[in-house]
Amino acid sequence: MKFIHLTDIHLMAPGVPLNGSDPAANLTRVLADIAAWHQDAEFCVISGDLADEGDPAAYGWLQEQLAAFPLPTFLMLGNHDVRENFLQVFSDHPRSSGGYVQHSHAAGGAKFLFLDTLTGGPDVHDGELCTERLAWLETELEAAGNAPVFLFLHHPPFDIDLPYVDDIKLRNPEAFHTALRKGRNIRHIFFGHIHRMTYVNWRGYSFTSLPSTNHQIPLVPERAGSEYSIEPMAYGVVQVGDDQLTVHFDAYLDRPGRDAGR
Ligand SMILES: [Fe+2]
Repeated sequence: MKFIHLTDIHLMAPGVPLNGSDPAANLTRVLADIAAWHQDAEFCVISGDLADEGDPAAYGWLQEQLAAFPLPTFLMLGNHDVRENFLQVFSDHPRSSGGYVQHSHAAGGAKFLFLDTLTGGPDVHDGELCTERLAWLETELEAAGNAPVFLFLHHPPFDIDLPYVDDIKLRNPEAFHTALRKGRNIRHIFFGHIHRMTYVNWRGYSFTSLPSTNHQIPLVPERAGSEYSIEPMAYGVVQVGDDQLTVHFDAYLDRPGRDAGR
């Protein structure tokens, strides 16, 4: 089976630029590219930072785009989101008890777990999994038994040697690791937040992240001269087999040739 991973779309009101790019125009292009080439995917997931300022108008615009998008799309929250505003617009999006935007999805004999690491509060950007959310995760992992499990969360539990994001990672990595140990067959973990394409192996668990669809966080900020940069955007095309996981990082805006500029 195949699914699509997108992250950090950072929507503003339509037409309002952010950090030198137009998030609504970028999302329009990425959704069109996915609809053109990947309609056979089982689902799409957007792993947080849906709206740059948690603006209800941005969530409303996203809802309109997804109504015309052919894939079922699961949404997650990041540090820029406002849970109450999101739930006002996406009132029937699945969630766990306590109103957290986390849920599980079964497909192809595997279990997909989408976590909500939003701490909340003005100017709070690090992430957390509180006792209630961790208990939900442990219950889901135990219930999965030996079935393959794929996890998704916005904030990584580790540093990537980039202080700008290391300072705002998941604030309770040890508790998260303890919960992960309840899983018997965790195959991979997808994350967002860092606006960069990475592969990380943390304590034996493999993780991948993706660029934002709007602006990136430069690996060498001194060289970029800014805390943000315009670098290639990408989405993930993920193929899940019985004994293999493949993540393609497709830089959809930067293909030369006949489909460039779609
Ligand atoms: Fe972000």
